[in-house]
Amino acid sequence: MSIPKKIQQLRVSINEHNYHYYILDDPKIPDSEYDGLMKELLELEIKSPELITVDSPTQRVGADPLSIFTEVTHTIPMLSLSNAFDEQELHDFAKRLQENLSAAIIEYVAEPKLDGLAVSLRYENGILVTAATRGNGYCGENVTQNVKTINNIPLRLRGKYPEILEVRGEVFMPKAGFIKLNQQQEAKDAKTFANPRNAAAGSLRQLDSNITATRPLTFYSYAIGTVSEINLPDTHSEILQQLQQWGLPIAKQNQVVTGINGCLQYYQQILSQRNALPFEIDGVVYKVNNIEQQEILGFISKAPRWAIAHKFPAQEASTKLLDIEVQVGRTGAITPVAKLAPVNVGGVTVSHATLHNQDEIDRKDIRINDTVIVRRAGDVIPEIVKVLIEKRSSDSQSFILPEQCPACNSDVVRVKEEAVARCTGGLICPAQRQQALQHFVSRQAMDIDGLGKQLIVQLVTNNLINNPADIYSLTHKQLAGLERMGDKSADNVLLAIEKSKTTTFARFLYALGIREVGESTANILANKFTNLDKLNQATEHELQQIMDIGPVAAKNIVNFFQQTNNINVIERLQIAGINWPEIVNILQDEQILAGKTFVLTGTLLQMSRNEAKSSLQKLGAKVSNNISKKTDFLVAGENAGSKLEKARNLAIIILAEAEFIEMLK
Ligand code: IVH
Repeated sequence: MSIPKKIQQLRVSINEHNYHYYILDDPKIPDSEYDGLMKELLELEIKSPELITVDSPTQRVGADPLSIFTEVTHTIPMLSLSNAFDEQELHDFAKRLQENLSAAIIEYVAEPKLDGLAVSLRYENGILVTAATRGNGYCGENVTQNVKTINNIPLRLRGKYPEILEVRGEVFMPKAGFIKLNQQQEAKDAKTFANPRNAAAGSLRQLDSNITATRPLTFYSYAIGTVSEINLPDTHSEILQQLQQWGLPIAKQNQVVTGINGCLQYYQQILSQRNALPFEIDGVVYKVNNIEQQEILGFISKAPRWAIAHKFPAQEASTKLLDIEVQVGRTGAITPVAKLAPVNVGGVTVSHATLHNQDEIDRKDIRINDTVIVRRAGDVIPEIVKVLIEKRSSDSQSFILPEQCPACNSDVVRVKEEAVARCTGGLICPAQRQQALQHFVSRQAMDIDGLGKQLIVQLVTNNLINNPADIYSLTHKQLAGLERMGDKSADNVLLAIEKSKTTTFARFLYALGIREVGESTANILANKFTNLDKLNQATEHELQQIMDIGPVAAKNIVNFFQQTNNINVIERLQIAGINWPEIVNILQDEQILAGKTFVLTGTLLQMSRNEAKSSLQKLGAKVSNNISKKTDFLVAGENAGSKLEKARNLAIIILAEAEFIEMLK
């Protein structure tokens, strides 16, 4: 095959895979194969640079930095939306529409209101030629080079498309990407972003598109601008479908609803999913579905009369800071926590907010009795954004972390260069003890069901347990005598304790609560050292040779096994009967499943989930809890449910238990 022909073939194939991956969420080939195609195309283009075209899939890398953005005038202005902040405003909106259209019931398309920034994409003859920000609605900035680095925006349209097509939509940063970006920024001492919206705006408005290319931006389309042909569908929902067929991404959550009740139902549904959505939204948008009706309604100043944004309640609220309490964590970290006058923030009552550490309190000049703004973002612990200084009263009191631990009175020290302060009490500190015990019994550790926080607090205060080994000598009598415990519950707890004795080496290591040894490090250590004796003898130097184990973790591990207290507890645990299957070490090159991601679901009959998990990990595989595009295999036991369905939709390889066991062999 001639080189131009081969190049052409590769581009068609890569574009097709992009479409399946980004637009249909249904990849057809593994990432490695896709990377292979890209590499082949890149190599051919390097050899024949004259064959490179602007829409080649290789052209997503950044270009030379600009000194200034040029201006783009929008052929059709980019409008904004009117807002409704409560149901009454929404009913008023619907009433106006019904009167204007003389229609009793109106059909709407309900969409998530994405929290990013609006852009307009112009395609000429199917090729992306210009991308512009909204600017003042009439005139925006030319951000074409930057937009080209956004992976789910097609550089070339599919199928039969109009000569000219302008697509409007939102560029935004998914929550996961935002968190990761901020971590990276922090690691290089660069500025972090306050929220995903700011991060998206900051990333898109970079003069150097090479920077934009490293930012996890994504795009959904929600409207059209200029289109050269007029035979477009006559409903908004069909236009969205048409955009998807041309290769443009649209939000999966879009839905056709009937009447204002349909809108309200959608609102509740999305509001309840809000935290679980992979991106931030600040409300939903309702748009009249019928384009003819849209035309009758027309526009009012800068917004269409046929659409409205129904905003979610603010995720920020102001309240009074009543007091500052100090919490002692498992490793002695002392965290100041603000006690607040309860306030509703985005549908949730908030009465506490983390203050992180003394530096944070000083930097924001937070004082007891201040009026503060609290913010709740997703599932994270609420935070204090700032103090309303103008409302500060004369009884405001500054706060300084105590020099003695509130739980054990030991000295609190702050290690140089660390923001956290720690209690030095170690095992004698009841707060640390209680947290350490809670960690020991937690689901990912020894998984002792029924030994909850309340019970542990009682056991610690009554001096019935001091360390994890004591759990295994608890008696029926001791348990049944406690508050809210009876014979039956005592039996259940003892049964759960007994059951926990059979575990895995990795879980056991994690349960010990060695600083810096989380689940994944525990796994690595277990597979590398296979037993306690070997791990016990490991030196800091040896530990540091292991990928993923840094100097701090290495020091903590060695330090942990040097403490006689710890060794005694471990010995007692082993005498109590804690056991795990022996780990047969497999050499690196026998890690045949390295780089593969598995998800386990349903009930396995021939082995426990844990056994399956550790067998996979020994062969180098990653075991994840959720199905995603990155999943390679789903192992489906009996009664598998939604994960199985999701895997089918994503065309992930599904293994029955027998096939899975065969594979392990
Ligand atoms: S439609 C003609 N749909 O909200 C109507 N806008 O407050 C133009 N936005 O500038 C906008 N999600 O940046 C529309 N599903 C959605 C949206 C959406 C987010 C943003 C957009 C717009 C702003 C108006």
